[in-house]
Amino acid sequence: MITGKYPSLRLRRSRKNEWSRRLIEENTLSPSDFILPVFIIEGKNKKQKIKSMPDVYRYTINYLGKIVDKAIKDGIPMIALFPHTESKRKDTLGSEALNDDNLVCRAIQFIKKKYKNEIGIMCDVALDPYTSHGHDGLIESGYVLNDETIDILIKQSLLQAQMGCDVIAPSDMMDGRIGKIRKSLDDNGFEMTQILSYAVKYASSFYGPFRDAVGSKGLLKGDKKNYQMDFKNADEALREMSLDIKEGADMVMVKPGMPYLDIIRLVKDNFKIPVLAYQVSGEYSLLSNSIKKKLIDKNSILESLIAFKRAGANAIISYYADRLDKILK
Ligand code: PBG
Repeated sequence: MITGKYPSLRLRRSRKNEWSRRLIEENTLSPSDFILPVFIIEGKNKKQKIKSMPDVYRYTINYLGKIVDKAIKDGIPMIALFPHTESKRKDTLGSEALNDDNLVCRAIQFIKKKYKNEIGIMCDVALDPYTSHGHDGLIESGYVLNDETIDILIKQSLLQAQMGCDVIAPSDMMDGRIGKIRKSLDDNGFEMTQILSYAVKYASSFYGPFRDAVGSKGLLKGDKKNYQMDFKNADEALREMSLDIKEGADMVMVKPGMPYLDIIRLVKDNFKIPVLAYQVSGEYSLLSNSIKKKLIDKNSILESLIAFKRAGANAIISYYADRLDKILK
């Protein structure tokens, strides 16, 4: 209970000096709180600008050493790999997802060979980088099929685990996939491969720049509302969470980030499991463009990131994770 009253009680007293503000701060950030997303492309020695995401690039595999060296030096625990797949490799079934020589497989092997366990690797499990229609699963009459899609996701997960991926991250929102993927990993000797479930993923307009980055933007027909969550709902997020936790998720994610801080708090208050926040591409580009236009100053980045910690997130996937030296100091 707060005792006393003005004028003897003055909350501004403890805010007066910087040392005092530091002493009473409730939340902090360190590099250990971050996952760095990395976009990869075919070719050699390429660092390719992404139009819709200022200061974010696609890299060829031989370039990854530089990125990973820096991430390790910065103290980042894990990177997330996202492939930009050439359109000639896409089809309606997303077959390229199961090609053991695809971009992601080669990138995982490159990093694991060079860095062993110095850094974790997480990979999305979903078909959207590989399908000609841009959806996360197989389609029949405009509907994304659940069980048929899971059959492929199981194989995609297993392939990534075999390549050395540490954390399998299903981002597809099919029902029941966590349990099935867990079982198949266990049956095949990958009982130590972790699963990070994108358990609560909303059908959001904030993913636009990401779809440009992985090359699925122009392809996507319709929207993802028959599998991703309706942004009007919060109770449903708890149901999604509880199912994925029961099915064996090691960590869960809420996505997008900033418009869904209430959901992060809700999940954290209801489940004692590591909860990750994804500061998605649209949030990133909104902030970055506004800073470039000098509408807001760059401390807004730190403010946006601390908000996730305050809401209860254990860690944050953020496109700013390669610039933490400047942001956190
Ligand atoms: C793929 C996937 C998406 C994102 C991460 N994994 C896009 C989507 O579901 O359409 C979005 C990430 C971002 O916007 O930064 N399933």
